[in-house]
Amino acid sequence: MASADAPRPPWQGRRIVLGVTGGIAAYKSVTLARRLTRLGAEVDVVLSRSSREFVTPLTFEAVTGRPVLTDLFSVDGAARHIRLGREADVVCIAPATADFIARAAQGRANELLTTTLLVTRTPVLLCPAMNDRMWAHPQVQANAGHCRERLGYHQLGPVAGPLAVGEGDGPGRMVEPEVIVEHLGRLLGGGGILEGRTVLVTSGPTREPLDPVRYLGNRSSGRMGFALAAAAWRRGAHVTVVTGPSALPRPEGVEVVPVETAREMDAAVRDRVGEADVIVYAAAVADFRPVRAEERKRKRSRDGEGWAVELTANPDIASGTKEHRKPGSVTVGFALESEDLLSNAADKRERKGFDLVVANPAGEPDAGFEAETNRVTLLGSGKPEELPLLPKEAVAEMVLDRVEALLRGRV
Ligand code: CTP
Repeated sequence: MASADAPRPPWQGRRIVLGVTGGIAAYKSVTLARRLTRLGAEVDVVLSRSSREFVTPLTFEAVTGRPVLTDLFSVDGAARHIRLGREADVVCIAPATADFIARAAQGRANELLTTTLLVTRTPVLLCPAMNDRMWAHPQVQANAGHCRERLGYHQLGPVAGPLAVGEGDGPGRMVEPEVIVEHLGRLLGGGGILEGRTVLVTSGPTREPLDPVRYLGNRSSGRMGFALAAAAWRRGAHVTVVTGPSALPRPEGVEVVPVETAREMDAAVRDRVGEADVIVYAAAVADFRPVRAEERKRKRSRDGEGWAVELTANPDIASGTKEHRKPGSVTVGFALESEDLLSNAADKRERKGFDLVVANPAGEPDAGFEAETNRVTLLGSGKPEELPLLPKEAVAEMVLDRVEALLRGRV
């Protein structure tokens, strides 16, 4: 079964040095190492001396399948840290303790991890974790500031939340592994043509109210739209997603504009579409809404009478915003079809002014609504490209590869 955790860009085949220093959050770094490995990265874990009070090399070796480095003064330790630092695509220190941040700021070389930092020229991500009063201390702040401003390190967190030891009011807690994975993804995935561009995505279902408690909706989970938004953000874009109700976690780094109805989605898209370099219409918009939403909850009728609801057409958001798009922008639409997949998709491409249509058959198991995977055909100006059954996250990467190619053709 294809899974969201399967190897995929931008992590796949990339080299990540994960430095773990001595804080209780070190246990979360095991999850971090595991996720990165499952996404296809080669993760070289470097443990500081004090981290080994909390976690063992064996734990990390088991989840990464690679030897863990601990000792600078072993026979090959010194040569290995130079190689590691030079070959890494990104270095992440999680958790980064107050003591480690102080040593990093000073450029110390007293153990493997700090020496690795001195040789690397790749992006470094620090994920601090400590007692909240320690984090608030002016010297810790000065050290972290020096790492950011003078050394150019990226810093993620800490965030407020329950701490092992702490007052718990201020920030001190390490950000969660999933969030670190996404930020590493952005450090690995940026630098292309989407860097600094504006991307607008519509996502999820819409809900059309019948009365205050009932609505007409559809089975869209929002997974495909969120996957596209997340992938565009990792490629360095400023991303806004206009989304109908979705139970999924919001994509990291993305501006989320929550809406309920098709008309709200239409208004939110109209406000933003003129600024976007890329527009992806991934929402499953309800084509119809009840003519009238009742003000009070409709009571069950005593005599068993039914409820006939009259529906009226909703705006077609993609077609209606065609004229407002920025000249030169690239537009992607979706086509969910029960029959004549390619001819219907080609017709939608023409009618709605899409550069690329992601077409998928309705009613197929493991694809489309509510599924984690999708089987799609990409339809641009050339030959249709049929993709295999893939996790939606992998489909999103392939769609954005095509979007980048189209953007490159326009500059
Ligand atoms: N779309 C939209 N606004 C609508 C309906 C659809 O913006 N009211 C967009 C979808 O986000 C998608 C594309 O148009 O990118 C096609 O959606 P789809 O539901 O496949 O097609 P419909 O326009 O609803 O046409 P039909 O019902 O004939 O299949």
